[in-house]
Amino acid sequence: MKEKDRIHYGMIKESRFPVSLFAIYLGVLFLMSGIHTGLIAYMNEANWDELVQVIVPMVYWGIVAVGLALFTRKKMKSTYEVPMHKMAEATSRVANGDFSVYVSPLHTSDKLDYLDIMIMDFNKMVEELGSIETLKTDFFSNVSHEIKTPIAVVQNSAEMLKNTRLSVEEQQMYVDTIIQASRKLTALITNILKLNKLEKQNIQPVMEEYDLCEQLCQCSLQFENIWEEKEIEFEAELEDKVLIHADECLLELVWSNLLSNAMKFTEKGGTVKLTEISTEEEVIVSVSDTGCGMSTDTMKHIFDKFYQGDTSHSANGNGLGLALVLQIVRMFDGTIQVESDPGKGSTFTVCLPVRREEVKV
Ligand SMILES: Nc1ncnc2c1ncn2[C@@H]1O[C@H](COP(=O)(O)OP(=O)(O)O)[C@@H](O)[C@H]1O
Ligand SMILES: [Mg+2]
Repeated sequence: MKEKDRIHYGMIKESRFPVSLFAIYLGVLFLMSGIHTGLIAYMNEANWDELVQVIVPMVYWGIVAVGLALFTRKKMKSTYEVPMHKMAEATSRVANGDFSVYVSPLHTSDKLDYLDIMIMDFNKMVEELGSIETLKTDFFSNVSHEIKTPIAVVQNSAEMLKNTRLSVEEQQMYVDTIIQASRKLTALITNILKLNKLEKQNIQPVMEEYDLCEQLCQCSLQFENIWEEKEIEFEAELEDKVLIHADECLLELVWSNLLSNAMKFTEKGGTVKLTEISTEEEVIVSVSDTGCGMSTDTMKHIFDKFYQGDTSHSANGNGLGLALVLQIVRMFDGTIQVESDPGKGSTFTVCLPVRREEVKV
């Protein structure tokens, strides 16, 4: 429980049957027995019939007992039964898969008691369950959609290939399309499996000491074709050598995803810059570009699975890249920050706390 909630808990009413209620009972009984004594004295003085003198107190106490029993019943009903019935109805709706349930607390926020807190916690639980359920459903529909698209491409191309009158170039084109679609499918499945393993923490990082600068250089070189083709100016500002202790393969995924996004979302003639600096405690790597940038709304979702803000590039990627990046960065207790200006460009900055030895060559 959060500290804030705990303070909140300390301020709530401890009991739904406060001591004052029992004081009322006691007061009423004293008053009634006083009236009883007065009644006896009056009947004696008035010389009422003996039988009547016995019956009147009996009827009197009968009425008092019924009154008190009815009052207690009403109090118990409003205190426990009504809210419990409401809760029972709500829990049964949740059990049947309805996560839109909301039970309103019985009191206003300044007069909360433990039942109100229970109701509020219940509402919170249902909301959480609902969002997990939505995530699950979204995940399945996203996966199905992402798988269906390349399969449809393969199917279409294969059907076109059946046509014997196609020229060699046309055949080649369809074969290439099939290869591309199956690569996309393989990349998608690999990413899903990797992400799943990372989320379940099934991946044991292979920690070894290696040169991060060397890795960043090698990784950048993989994109040489793209930056040449798109006439992108690529700048790298790296230290000479920084030895870090981490999982090389996993971090490779981080840099290649950030660089591939930067290249992908930067128009022809733009600039992509890779910077690395390190301090005693951390290594900071940033990838900035002069590409299309993102709106604040898009930025809120970029780490969500399957989210693709810019649909014009959706054929190239599956929206899992940054979700993977975030999981990996978190795995190494790092942070990732994004700054972006729509139309001007974006900067992704990864900070990794690492044990390292720095050797300047
Ligand atoms: N450098 C960038 N510039 C602009 N938008 C970006 C950049 N990097 C990521 N994004 C946004 O974040 C979304 C999610 O990125 P990612 O998870 O890598 O998926 P994908 O690359 O498959 O679209 C992208 O679709 C895009 O909208
Ligand atoms: Mg990507």
